[in-house]
Amino acid sequence: SQVQTIETEKVKKAKNMAFAFDIDGVLVHGDRLIPEGRKALEILNGENELGIKIPHIFLTNGSGKPEQARCDQLTKILGQPVHVDQFIQSHTPMSALSEYYKTVLVVGGEGYKCREVAEQYGFKDIVVPNDIIAWDPTIAPYRVFTDEERATSRPRDFSNVTIEAILVFSDSRDYATDMQIIVDLLRSENGRFHTMAKDPVSQRIPIYFSQGDLLCPTEHPYPRMSQGAFRIGLEAMYRALTGVDLERVVYGKPEMATYKYADEVMSSWMGELHGEERLPENIYMVGDNPASDIIGGNMYGWNTCLVRTGVFQGGDNDENNPANFGVFPNVLEAVQTALRKQL
Ligand code: G3P
Ligand code: MG
Repeated sequence: SQVQTIETEKVKKAKNMAFAFDIDGVLVHGDRLIPEGRKALEILNGENELGIKIPHIFLTNGSGKPEQARCDQLTKILGQPVHVDQFIQSHTPMSALSEYYKTVLVVGGEGYKCREVAEQYGFKDIVVPNDIIAWDPTIAPYRVFTDEERATSRPRDFSNVTIEAILVFSDSRDYATDMQIIVDLLRSENGRFHTMAKDPVSQRIPIYFSQGDLLCPTEHPYPRMSQGAFRIGLEAMYRALTGVDLERVVYGKPEMATYKYADEVMSSWMGELHGEERLPENIYMVGDNPASDIIGGNMYGWNTCLVRTGVFQGGDNDENNPANFGVFPNVLEAVQTALRKQL
């Protein structure tokens, strides 16, 4: 019958669309749920007129926890399933670097959690700033080291260890110490502490940052400085100290590598839900940060939806990076509008 044909047509359309969600400022603020986020996910998880699941992935510049731990936490907050196979944190694509580097300095995050992240990515020898301080406290003269920090650190004679790369995985919890240690390593002879290279460039080890956001929405009324602000500070110091620019690699939104990785995750999640591994024609990105979510999605040919629950607090649309599908008060309105358009 005609009703059935319309129904099948709609199912076909539904199977040709997917969403990519930013997390902070769209679905949650820190550990606090944005209620419309739960409702939006319920709809995509099958509570819609077709009773069909609409694939969605989570593409966050958030960081600092193993993927499984963060997914468990988000599942609890959102009351909706968040599976690791549909989940990308800023440092997730950096796991590929474990093929190239054995001994790495991993910076950022709470305590030693990023050591755990790096272990799961397959890095063989992981050093964190606390290991360095436990070996030589004079490296960071103003740092007060707690007993707990000492207990979880793994000191050894780092003057004999060659650090091959620096990986900033998450927000620094102590700018002064982390910047000192990073600058020491960048200026050293091939990543050896207690050395200073004569030429700042030829013996410099590479540095990677997991994302470049200047600001991050939190429970605080105004967004807080994030990894991008830390990097800019570090670059300025490095330039002032050496006279040369710091070459670096940045991952996360809006970098191309992250969207390419997202494509892979998206198509395999399509396979999981619809039995066919491919990219849908209509992809919607819902984000709160024009400078990462929206610019990246626009460049990548996605339909971009900017919401007002996070970093963006402007007028009709962002002036520099306008969302091409529209600006919405919250994620639920964005999802409903996209579904109305497609189905
Ligand atoms: O900027 C830091 C990070 O917490 C932002 O996460 O989910 O908004 O990409 P998200
Ligand atoms: Mg966000």
